[in-house]
Amino acid sequence: VAAGFETTFAQCPDESSLRAAAAKLIGGSGEVTQLLKLMPQLPGDRRKELGQRANALKNAVQSAFDARLEGLARAARQAELDAPPIDPSLPGRGLARGALHPITRTIDALLDVFASIGFEVTDAPEIELADFNFTRLGFPPDHPATDMQDSFFVAGGEIGAPGVKRFEDQVLLRTHTSNAQVHEMSRRRTIPIACISAGKVFRRDDDATHSPMFHQIEGFWVDRGISFAHLKGVLTTFVKRMFGEQVPVRFRPSYFPFVEPGGELDVGCTICRPYDEPGSEAQRARTDACRVCKSTGWLEVLGCGMIHPVVFEHCGWDPKEVTGFAFGMGIDRIAMLRHNVGDIRLLYENDIRFLSQL
Ligand code: PHE
Repeated sequence: VAAGFETTFAQCPDESSLRAAAAKLIGGSGEVTQLLKLMPQLPGDRRKELGQRANALKNAVQSAFDARLEGLARAARQAELDAPPIDPSLPGRGLARGALHPITRTIDALLDVFASIGFEVTDAPEIELADFNFTRLGFPPDHPATDMQDSFFVAGGEIGAPGVKRFEDQVLLRTHTSNAQVHEMSRRRTIPIACISAGKVFRRDDDATHSPMFHQIEGFWVDRGISFAHLKGVLTTFVKRMFGEQVPVRFRPSYFPFVEPGGELDVGCTICRPYDEPGSEAQRARTDACRVCKSTGWLEVLGCGMIHPVVFEHCGWDPKEVTGFAFGMGIDRIAMLRHNVGDIRLLYENDIRFLSQL
């Protein structure tokens, strides 16, 4: 029993094989341990002598194990010392760190401004029923935006597919974030409702300034007695916080089926009018040469207006009791302006060499 353990231990190349070899002898069910367990069964006269010998064997195995363990540790330490020296003064290799995408950063900045004014941040689906994207917002079924040429309809969700009989039952990728208005107004039964919702929208466009997928942010406020003055106040506050106290702002009348009156808000071009010198020669020259605002001196930032009575009716509210305003804004263009990027597609190619410059 247990013969040759010193040789066995000496042949173990590392700590784990050494521990395994020792366990076979002096572990819980090792050979020497078994032997010791037999002692009480031996006749009294032999027990003493054999017991002493078994214990001596156990101790010898234990010492051989300890010695070999220490030998292995010493060898490892020596190998480390003999290896080429480590130079702790060399510069580190550095880890590449990830960062939030410029669009995400712009969305966060926009949401922050509106949240600080008191808007609640909500979400709405990207895959949507035509009912929520168009019909309840007052789009007539023959509006050009509702055309297959302009919107992405989901295969199997077009008219004629199983269960899809009416225009509003069709399934498409939302073309704007205005579906957030419909969802929140249809779902909630108490006022005030003041929500802000950002996300992806999809249209059949693809060139340097249009991508088939882009981002919008939608906000609206519904309560008793909300007027166009509230709209102007909130949006002017927003624009000054986002683009600076000094930025010129103007409202222009415009048309969207779901607002009346409807308008668009422009800000003074952030590229050619970084500081405004109305009427000056230098200002006019900069604006004439500016390609970002196409020499107009203005950038269209958002669409807005008073929520149309028909939208309230479609969402279960009485337009004689509540009023509200809504606005929708493209996010990608704002990110492009903030980072001075000329081609929208650069934002989506996710080329790290480009993104890491921003
Ligand atoms: N949904 C409109 C668009 O996509 C923007 C808008 C939102 C206009 C809310 C008015 C009110 O262009």
